[in-house]
Amino acid sequence: MTTVLAGPVNPEVGAIRHHYEVSNAFYRIVLGPTMMYSGGYWSDGEDRYAAHDEGQYRKLDAFIELARVKGADRVLDIGCGWGTMLDRVTRVHGAKAGVGLTLSRTQVDWIETLNNPAIEARVESWEDHTTDQPYDGAFCINALEHFVLSSLPPKERTKRYQFFFERVHSLLKPGAGFVLHTMTAERLPLNRQLLDDLKFLQREEFAGCHIPHLSELTAGAEGLFEVNEIKNEQLSFADACRVWLQYLAERRAEAVALEGETVVARFERYLDIFAYTLEDKYFNNFRVVLTRR
Ligand SMILES: C[S@@+](CC[C@H](N)C(=O)[O-])C[C@H]1O[C@@H](n2cnc3c(N)ncnc32)[C@H](O)[C@@H]1O
Repeated sequence: MTTVLAGPVNPEVGAIRHHYEVSNAFYRIVLGPTMMYSGGYWSDGEDRYAAHDEGQYRKLDAFIELARVKGADRVLDIGCGWGTMLDRVTRVHGAKAGVGLTLSRTQVDWIETLNNPAIEARVESWEDHTTDQPYDGAFCINALEHFVLSSLPPKERTKRYQFFFERVHSLLKPGAGFVLHTMTAERLPLNRQLLDDLKFLQREEFAGCHIPHLSELTAGAEGLFEVNEIKNEQLSFADACRVWLQYLAERRAEAVALEGETVVARFERYLDIFAYTLEDKYFNNFRVVLTRR
């Protein structure tokens, strides 16, 4: 494990660890064996619960294809979670090395248990990461939502997304693929339940995180990346949240024994909020495929 936390991270490291350093045993209950914390790809009519794991691997395989990194020398995963993408791309798709960035020390502990010498997991923010061996391709899967402080004025937020794309550009070879999956927000109605739920997310689960608007991302990437595809995949994430709620319900007593009632109730509430806000189209979940200019 490599730990490098150089500059101030925005939003702050403590706010991210509040969510991502709940124990690995608890996350294993919620997420199941794939330890993927993002949406999967299921076909119409397929039973999401029964085919949860296949759907997660299908998504990873599709992303690997889109980033054109089969057999690549070096692949970067920004916000790598428990390392499932890097394990897949190196063990199944022939990439020689994968570097993962996360702020969670417990995720890095988990990645070490994968015993995959091709993966280097770093406790390092994307803004601190530099390399003298540019990558052949990169992923950022449902992590960008954590990279910009919600209290910044809109102009400053756009600058921050621009800084993110500049940093990724500096890490990639020309022509490299970069696949992003990110929630984005639509103009939200002033509905009391929704406002209460958003306040809960801001205060109690993901303090200071900003769900971007698509225009903030496209403005940030302009001139640095060619945009090949933008596709809205709301249900891919919503359906995964519903399966995780089922997993948690089935093993609730164990989860409470591990982390206590308050943490379990927080996860139940936030997963339900994500599911319904995606289903009701308050939020999007965009797959954005880019090529580094
Ligand atoms: C929702 S998880 C997604 C994990 C993984 N991509 C997946 O799909 O399963 C978000 C990840 O972003 C990471 N993260 C948040 N802020 C970060 C930052 N500033 N730099 C690097 N990683 C960050 C978290 O530690 C976590 O691993």
